[in-house]
Amino acid sequence: MDSFEWNKVMAAVIATVLFIMVIGIVAETPFHQEHVKPAFTIEVASDGVVEAVVEEGPSFAEMLAGSSADRGARQWNKCKSCHTIDKGGANRTGPNLYGIVGRTIAALDDFRYSGALEALGTSVWTYEAIDEWLQNPQAMVKGSKMVLAVRKADQRADLLAYLATFSDQPLPFPAVESAQEAAEGAIEAVEQAAEATGGN
Ligand code: HEC
Repeated sequence: MDSFEWNKVMAAVIATVLFIMVIGIVAETPFHQEHVKPAFTIEVASDGVVEAVVEEGPSFAEMLAGSSADRGARQWNKCKSCHTIDKGGANRTGPNLYGIVGRTIAALDDFRYSGALEALGTSVWTYEAIDEWLQNPQAMVKGSKMVLAVRKADQRADLLAYLATFSDQPLPFPAVESAQEAAEGAIEAVEQAAEATGGN
């Protein structure tokens, strides 16, 4: 064999190898698309649901649904040196809190609020807002005059349940999402995330 013949053999070998590789890729592609990818997505979706539940713990609405006004009455001991809660009760270091859930922020005419709290305008104390306030009033409203913080979520939920009973028209707790709705939401979020990262 001269070198010209040898080159033809090499070319044929390389062509064959390339041909086999191309066939392999083409043959595998539909398999990946139709079987592997959806299976992977489904796996991520079910993982996502489990993780979401484990990592996040109960939602705020679930915490409230499991709260107790009786336990909250004990938590109220932390507040009563500065606040009264009965209807028409006096202001102390802090304002009277009758009907606070659903009440306009800084609403009492006969209490001198900080400018910071008054600056929130006509917003209303929802359950969520009071929960945020109690976690850290200074962080929520920089320059507010209240310094106490209730760090534990379950204690705040019990307090909210207690506060809510002191009202002419107690507000219902926020609705708890059903497990079905939560699962659907989680699957949707996973699918959107998969789309955003280009599938697989
Ligand atoms: C050391 C005194 C003090 C304690 C203890 C205290 N607060 Fe206050 N609270 C205040 C003061 C002062 C204000 C007014 C804040 C301002 O004007 O910036 C206030 C304001 C509030 C407001 C907003 C009232 C409104 O009319 O907008 C809520 C709600 C509230 N406190 C809840 C609580 C709860 C619940 C507790 C117990 C966990 C508590 N506070 C404990 C002093 C206190």
